[in-house]
Amino acid sequence: MKERLQKFLAAAGVSSRRGAEALIAAGRVAVNGTPVTAQGVQVDPERDLVAVDGRPVERRARHRHLLLYKPPGCVTTLADPQGRPTAAQYLEGVRERVFPVGRLDWDAEGALLFTTDGELANRLAHPRYGHRRTYLAKVKGEPPAAALERMVAGVRLEDGPARALEAAVHERAERNTWVRVAVGEGRKHLVKRLCEAVGLEVLRLFRPEFGGLSVERLRPGQFRDLGPEEVRTLRRAAGLEGGPAPGPVSPLALPRAARRHGHGPPAPPTAGGGAEDRRRHGRGPPAHRPDATAPGTGARRGSSPRPAPARPGRGAAAPARGAARSGTAGARPARPASAPSGRRSSRASGGPGRRGFPRRPGRGGA
Ligand code: URA
Repeated sequence: MKERLQKFLAAAGVSSRRGAEALIAAGRVAVNGTPVTAQGVQVDPERDLVAVDGRPVERRARHRHLLLYKPPGCVTTLADPQGRPTAAQYLEGVRERVFPVGRLDWDAEGALLFTTDGELANRLAHPRYGHRRTYLAKVKGEPPAAALERMVAGVRLEDGPARALEAAVHERAERNTWVRVAVGEGRKHLVKRLCEAVGLEVLRLFRPEFGGLSVERLRPGQFRDLGPEEVRTLRRAAGLEGGPAPGPVSPLALPRAARRHGHGPPAPPTAGGGAEDRRRHGRGPPAHRPDATAPGTGARRGSSPRPAPARPGRGAAAPARGAARSGTAGARPARPASAPSGRRSSRASGGPGRRGFPRRPGRGGA
């Protein structure tokens, strides 16, 4: 089936559609050996040979896009030179070269997109495009309204000024408060640093959605493929596809951040035991670390998430305890844990217990 040349170029990951128009106008694109400068030329991806600057453009790549509920206790890289568990290890069975869009700290959890589409990833992650990211930060006590206002007004951080697009109380916990913080850039530890700058101590950090894609039906460590409509929405959000860009997700549509019952975070990747576990139970990331043996909790992981049981008025997935910790805790291997499955102690979730929390808000290294 024929399609417009600029659309073909964008879908092949050469550039955005606007960028493709510029390439065409500059005479850098040839179809079957003939330079094309007119816009709107139709090509047949099956038959026509399209080249940019003399280099043939591969036919439309079939991209793969995945949404992972990144659990705490893993880095957002494909491989870690220090041998720590990685978010990619949860993508069991994925053969394509997917890479993460942006990052979440070691101790943060929630929506993490993986894709093979470089242009889409670049657009969504690049500060130039100001893509909105919404986080739920559990902060100690009750934040004064003035602190939240200061976050929105802007603060000075060590690498320059920063501000939240939104900072509001999302949900009250027993003694602490979930604060909804939206930002338009992906600077390192930005939410923790914004909170720290206005005197708020972050205890946990959860990203409930990314690009309008919620982790509501996933449990920590689970992932799913995006559907075509979701991919279109993402592409619109990235300005790669026509049509209105999706607006910010309504706070009411975000998964509740309140404590889940009976679904602790998954065990970090383990050697031997982990692989054995997976064979027996069909769950868990690939074998990895001989020294990390925290038990799982029965929450299934892998590519086919179970929809969480419907609970009126609340989402299924919410973060596990102890997400935001100090950089030192972030680099620490998960300790062998003996907590039973089901409700878990924070120790069992791969880090220090309450008494082990740092006094100052941590940044949980990536
Ligand atoms: N801000 C943070 O502080 N950490 C994250 O992981 C993401 C945003």
